[in-house]
Amino acid sequence: MKQNPDYDKAVEIADGVFWVGFYDPVAHFHCNPYLILTGEDAVLIDPGSNPHFPTVARKVASVVKFDRIRYIIIHHQDPDLASNIPVFEKLINRPDLEVVTTFRASLLTSYYGFKSPYRLVEKGPLEVGGRKFDFELTPYLHAPGAFTTYDGERKILFSSDIFGAFSRNWDLYAAENYPELMFEFHDSYMPDHGLLKNQMERFERFNIDLIAPQHGSVIRKELVQSQIDALKKVQGGGYLRNRQ
Ligand SMILES: [Fe+2]
Ligand SMILES: [Fe+2]
Repeated sequence: MKQNPDYDKAVEIADGVFWVGFYDPVAHFHCNPYLILTGEDAVLIDPGSNPHFPTVARKVASVVKFDRIRYIIIHHQDPDLASNIPVFEKLINRPDLEVVTTFRASLLTSYYGFKSPYRLVEKGPLEVGGRKFDFELTPYLHAPGAFTTYDGERKILFSSDIFGAFSRNWDLYAAENYPELMFEFHDSYMPDHGLLKNQMERFERFNIDLIAPQHGSVIRKELVQSQIDALKKVQGGGYLRNRQ
């Protein structure tokens, strides 16, 4: 693993798993798409928005040919993670490309206008190229159809908005102060303390070496438990408390 990654390039965060995100030192919503190599095929996770598309596509192309991508996983319907799928599917140009998401999220992601069929999460784990991806539904954190993806072999949790953060003073890897950075994002976007605490107790039963969220920073094993403990304390629903 590189110690001082060049953020202008794809960064391999684990064996065959690449961060292909957009490094913007002033962005409040820093997005982290990931590319996973699985034998002949590849999986793209939360590919991102239209403004970030040229950078993400360049980084993907530096790792694999577009037509190796067999699945695009989108963890919920938000435009910051899913709105560039129509342009990606044109580049991928593969008739068996499938978009993996929940039924609830698919009702909204259909409005992005891509043509590829869905492979619904409700069907069970995704097996591709000898790798297995398990899905954990995380309803209302923050969308009703939200879920996360767990790569049990590499012990990586692709956590979508959970464990995300606003991106001031961003670094690819979380440091000791990461709970402070997560707090504002989760208090604003997660609706309820009880939901978040219950989800943290579920994640504690996972064996996690790396958390790869869609915003903020990647969390290495030594910081996983302290971040779980921090999110158990977030109140959530901040906009309800703050309205006049
Ligand atoms: Fe979101
Ligand atoms: Fe997000």
